[in-house]
Amino acid sequence: MTFAIAESKARSKVEIYDALASQLSSLLAGERDLIANAANFSSLIFHSLPDLNWAGFYFAKAGELVLGPFQGQPACVRIKIGQGVCGAGAAKCETVIVPNVHEFPGHITCDSASNSEIVVPLKKGERLIGVLDIDSPSFSRFDEEDAVGLERLVRILLASAIAK
Ligand code: SME
Repeated sequence: MTFAIAESKARSKVEIYDALASQLSSLLAGERDLIANAANFSSLIFHSLPDLNWAGFYFAKAGELVLGPFQGQPACVRIKIGQGVCGAGAAKCETVIVPNVHEFPGHITCDSASNSEIVVPLKKGERLIGVLDIDSPSFSRFDEEDAVGLERLVRILLASAIAK
């Protein structure tokens, strides 16, 4: 299957996320497997959004977060709820934007190139099923527009798939 990755230069974040929402819907159409769709989601994001060094998922299993599909350097496999940026997003069940990971108490370094990070919770109803985690080598890479755009993309992923 071929799939055109959105050209993201010289466009506003709103335009980029609009295009990504449309591409993601097409990419996931007809497939109900959450892991397969999370894998393609990671690839689309990693290759479309500028200035990233890691993009992927952790899924909630038996009270901790376990590494799922991702793009980037190998990462830590298990994170306790409440630990690091991922664990904080999971504990609060809210999007967390970290402009400087070196100032975040308990930040877990998986790739030393990371300087900023955003974590978006994955919820089925009120139940947390995991988090989307994205890292950038730039400081302050992520803002409220990214949060809104990524939360929209996560809703498309969750609507596409059957969570176990
Ligand atoms: N930095 C994350 C750990 C995951 S890696 O960035 C892929 C954290 O503090 O939870």
